Amino acid sequence: MHQPLKLWRNARLATCDAAGRHIERGALLTRGERIDWVGEEVAVPAANADEVHDLGGAWVTPALIDCHTHLVFAGTRAEEYAQRLRGTSYEQIARAGGGILSTVRAVRAASEQQLFDESAPRLAALIAEGVTTLEIKSGYGLTLADEAKMLRVARALGRAFPVTVRTTLLAAHTVPPEYRGRSQEYVELIAREWLPALLAEGLVDALDVFCERIGFSVAEAETLFAAARALDVPVKMHAEQLSNLGGTLLAARYGALSCDHLEYAGSAEAAALAGGGPVAVLLPVAFYCLAEKHPPPVAALRAAGAAMAVASDCNPGSAPGTSLLTAMSMATRLFGLTAEEALLGVTRHAARALGLGASHGVLAPGYAADFIVWNVRSVEELGYWIGFNPRRTVVRAAEVMRWPSPTS
Ligand code: NIG
Ligand code: FE
Repeated sequence: MHQPLKLWRNARLATCDAAGRHIERGALLTRGERIDWVGEEVAVPAANADEVHDLGGAWVTPALIDCHTHLVFAGTRAEEYAQRLRGTSYEQIARAGGGILSTVRAVRAASEQQLFDESAPRLAALIAEGVTTLEIKSGYGLTLADEAKMLRVARALGRAFPVTVRTTLLAAHTVPPEYRGRSQEYVELIAREWLPALLAEGLVDALDVFCERIGFSVAEAETLFAAARALDVPVKMHAEQLSNLGGTLLAARYGALSCDHLEYAGSAEAAALAGGGPVAVLLPVAFYCLAEKHPPPVAALRAAGAAMAVASDCNPGSAPGTSLLTAMSMATRLFGLTAEEALLGVTRHAARALGLGASHGVLAPGYAADFIVWNVRSVEELGYWIGFNPRRTVVRAAEVMRWPSPTS
């Protein structure tokens, strides 16, 4: 089959490669759905391109990757937000049977079609800002049938919209009412029955655990991680969000793709995330909405050489937001990331947090031809605007996207 060769010329490229190269007078060649060549326009290899696109000197980055979302859910928790504004804490609401469990009730009551219809506009909003790859977690069903329903909706969204969806089984989000006081039994059910069954249905790309006082213990997380390892399923963890339980150290021992939140992580955790360890996924929108006071240890993570990603955490409780660009702004202002770190956090490092580090998030030969043409004067503008969308063109699999409507 002919793989069309396309030349994308007259561009300023922020490659997000290991050297962090910016190419001021750059060009890209794509063949089929992949990048074939990246470099200075004067050095483009002589080739008969099937198409030539003049990008008018605009900045181009890899397309954005939102590596941590709970985007599929029903209802809202606006009334809980109002309660929190009056001083009740997230943890108090959860202990009183609200929080995650209130969304569980809404998701269980929703049909697959309703879940799809409620989630689609949130996905459209992320896509409009230049997201072409995202993770979607389950975790509001907490029965086999309802977790499967959520994951099927996530897959359906991936077919209906121009995005790559990676699904994560987060059945260990909170203990469902049916298993109150029997969390170990619930964890064993997930490990022995649900994970293998949902994996066999093609619904699971990774497994996640909310390791927290109001979630699951480190020992329970280990039961799940061991089961995932036996089935070759990559793992991730909501770690040290509200307290330091030590989940990060366990996740690092299991070679997790990422540890997410990390507000209460310390130097031991930062060391465990060093170098090629799990990606530290920072979720500043949750930090902001929960009015947390304790930011993640960014200086220690940086000193350890940990890869830091930034994600929206889109969910009805702690982070009701669908703007990855706003998350970048918050990561810089609230957590102290540099503009460059924020950009790497939604490209190169976000790809790694999804196990896609060899194929996504970088402008380099062999990588997916997913990139964004921006209406900005400098790439620093990407984590600077709040509520303004400077996206010009989204190119996915070397095709210019029409939008923001679904592809089918
Ligand atoms: O990432 N911490 C647990 N999970 C979500 C919140 C889920 C919810 O409150 O519905 C988070 O913050
Ligand atoms: Fe989360």
